[in-house]
Amino acid sequence: MLKELAIIALTTGACAALPSGGYQDPEGPPSIRHGQSLVMTHCSSCHAIGLAEQSPHRGAPPFRTLSDRYPVRDLEEALAEGIVTAHPDMPEFTFSAEDTADIIAYLESLPFGEGGPQR
Ligand code: HEC
Repeated sequence: MLKELAIIALTTGACAALPSGGYQDPEGPPSIRHGQSLVMTHCSSCHAIGLAEQSPHRGAPPFRTLSDRYPVRDLEEALAEGIVTAHPDMPEFTFSAEDTADIIAYLESLPFGEGGPQR
């Protein structure tokens, strides 16, 4: 009896403690999944958006390395107001506040820096 109780406690405890790693949606917006599909559509022709691939455009930083340079949340303003970089290769984008939040959520879901498979 005691043993069964311990097992129940263990399994429920383990579920609650599971980190939401990878590409799962948290409840409600912002939607990581939607952010992923946005960057897939708009950014992946140049940027590596995933965990290990190289950027198709040599000069474009893989998204998983962005937080080496600044907190990805800092991009929120840039994305909402039209991100422009010094690089003429990159087109200007303007996203709605909602899409921006989704993109940030996706970027934050990437295992940056330590823990990332490769940079
Ligand atoms: C046509 C190619 C291309 C596309 C499409 C593109 N980028 Fe870029 N991006 C670049 C290049 C090239 C750089 C490097 C610019 C530099 O170093 O000056 C860059 C740099 C960046 C940076 C780093 C800026 C910095 O100063 O650190 C961010 C953030 C970024 N892109 C976000 C995005 C997002 C978000 C999208 C999709 C909405 C996107 N890019 C789409 C080519 C692209």
